[in-house]
Amino acid sequence: MRIIRKTTEMAVWSQAERQQGQRIAFVATMGALHEGHLSLVREAKKRGNRVVVSIFVNPTQFAPAEDFAAYPRNFVRDRGLLETEGVDVLFHPAAEDIYPPGNQTHVEVKELSKILCGARRPGHFQGVATVVTKLFNVVRPDVAIFGEKDYQQLQIIRRLVRDLFLDVEIVGHPIVRESDGIAMSSRNEYLNADERKAARCLSRSLHRAECLVRRGETSAKAIAEAVVAELHNEPLAVVEYVTISDVETLEPLEQIRQSALLALSVTIGQARLIDNKVLLRSSGE
Ligand code: PAJ
Repeated sequence: MRIIRKTTEMAVWSQAERQQGQRIAFVATMGALHEGHLSLVREAKKRGNRVVVSIFVNPTQFAPAEDFAAYPRNFVRDRGLLETEGVDVLFHPAAEDIYPPGNQTHVEVKELSKILCGARRPGHFQGVATVVTKLFNVVRPDVAIFGEKDYQQLQIIRRLVRDLFLDVEIVGHPIVRESDGIAMSSRNEYLNADERKAARCLSRSLHRAECLVRRGETSAKAIAEAVVAELHNEPLAVVEYVTISDVETLEPLEQIRQSALLALSVTIGQARLIDNKVLLRSSGE
């Protein structure tokens, strides 16, 4: 596995591979890799014959009071994991290379960035959209894989690729969970044993909603209330939001017709955890 730190070297490598007709598949990460990330890497291997993974803890997507400094970093372990997966290039740029002196351009996906997590984390999705655009322009992948764990992020990236005519196929990948239902996340490292157990309430509440929909409930308000009630059964959980929205525009819904995105954000201890599920009404209802 080749490790590339310079954007110029990354771009030269990609151009040479593309000229030889190779299909480049890309996975962007902030490191502290877990099975969720590795499942994206395996998907990338299926969809391209060259795989590039970036590890870059992007400063511009963290607000000043957020966990940029504390965000888990373990480059040596991550490098070993990616080597085992047979990744071709690990791209690990320095912040000064991604944001050189004088840098003053950003990418903003307006409406989609204002809601859900965007309403609580001003500037976050502008940081994400900007860094993903920069990474796409350096790596120039044919296909890029993103997790549905960050559903809003995935929709924002799909939107910016369409709006800016970027020539990259975006593939969404299902959420990978621990055996007890907790969605894998680098931020789970912040949880102690009790908090880790408490974090099960997120997936439990999603399951509760799924059962209600299966029994014919279509009122978003009724479903959201049941989800909040389930979360409130867990004393360590502080609910930030529970929303039921259109699966594409993420606009709030009152009634579920065919499908809806149930998204939630809950703080447990120091960790802000998100999870989601697409609720589907079975046909014929
Ligand atoms: P990070 O949180 O490291 O996640 C990298 C990718 O892994 C994202 O596409 C995310 O959705 C996916 N992922 C994380 N946990 C997952 C899980 N349990 N199941 C499936 N996929 C999962 O998301 C970011 O980094 C950054 O915002 C980034 C896109 C790299 C831009 O800085």
